[in-house]
Amino acid sequence: MSKGFKIGVIPGDGTGPEVIAEGIKVLEAVGETKDIRFNLVHYDFGGERYLKTGEALPDSAIDDFRQLDAIYLGAIGHPDVQPGILEKGILLNMRFSLDQYINLRPVKLYPGVETPLKDKGPEDIDYVVVRENTEGLYTGAGGFLKKGTPDEVAVQESINTRKGVERCLKYAFEYCRKRNKRKKLTLCGKTNVLTYAFDLWERVFREIGESYPDIERDYAHVDAICMWMVKNPEMFDVVVTDNMFGDIITDLGATIQGGMGIAAGGNINPNGTSMFEPIGGSAPKYTGKNVINPLAAIMAGQMMLDHLGEFEAAGLVERSMIAVVQKHMRSLDVGKMGLTTTEVGDLVVKYIRSDLGSET
Ligand code: IPM
Ligand code: MN
Repeated sequence: MSKGFKIGVIPGDGTGPEVIAEGIKVLEAVGETKDIRFNLVHYDFGGERYLKTGEALPDSAIDDFRQLDAIYLGAIGHPDVQPGILEKGILLNMRFSLDQYINLRPVKLYPGVETPLKDKGPEDIDYVVVRENTEGLYTGAGGFLKKGTPDEVAVQESINTRKGVERCLKYAFEYCRKRNKRKKLTLCGKTNVLTYAFDLWERVFREIGESYPDIERDYAHVDAICMWMVKNPEMFDVVVTDNMFGDIITDLGATIQGGMGIAAGGNINPNGTSMFEPIGGSAPKYTGKNVINPLAAIMAGQMMLDHLGEFEAAGLVERSMIAVVQKHMRSLDVGKMGLTTTEVGDLVVKYIRSDLGSET
């Protein structure tokens, strides 16, 4: 009997619907090939709906999401909605309410993809950033005093709980062990300045690390991490860090792995509903032009398959994507691909159907 998954689909804003359409084509093709059924439940949350109804994401939707096996999201962000409303109301709301406490962001340079790093290739650039996804500067803790006056004070607090830090680090150690590559976990922090937050992180890192004698532990300040991501990317295997640093270094990582056209991430609750999304935004200026690169969304779908335990299907999507990049795409950048959005999706589907991906 074939297996089935109930997937919530939120295409969202801008180019989100276009890239998600290609991602779904790919999921359906791989589902046919590998005998997996996807029961897709579509949701119209995003800027347009917010402008019409004034509602970003109702609590009832969060309850619905709990019944899903996973969520597949396109992009959130609308030029006519003040920045922060949709990001906080939809994206961060989902991450927090569903307790998706890990943001998993692979930085992997695929063969045929151009990196801005001189003299570095796929053998040098293959690591994963484990970003804490529910705490730090993102909780909204803080406030104003005397707002709008010359004496104004603005406080934005970084919240780091023992439980939150511990579960994130544990996940990172386990992930590093399961990944089974260099077996090295680097904590990215700033212990020389953030002497409370990263004192906690560093202590728990050492404590938990005792139970993982097979994993080499390494620590670096976030500024040095940025330097090494450019100069010596081969030194990384798994990098674990807090929410804000994770946000920043993964944009650098995305650029290094070929740009927003290919970078994908997973918001993981190991015991609940996880959400998968391309890292790039809604790119309003390219909306409806059939020019945006759908590979990041396709790779978010690939991560979702992997998360659902469909390893063969995930492998097939990855191989097919590599074949398309190597044989058909001039560039991964918008407008320079030499192909339209739909053509890229169709080609990935073609390789999936013929399973020629394994020959590359
Ligand atoms: C990301 C984004 C979000 C974040 C924004 C849109 C709130 O930049 O997923 O990295 O900061 O987490
Ligand atoms: Mn970001």
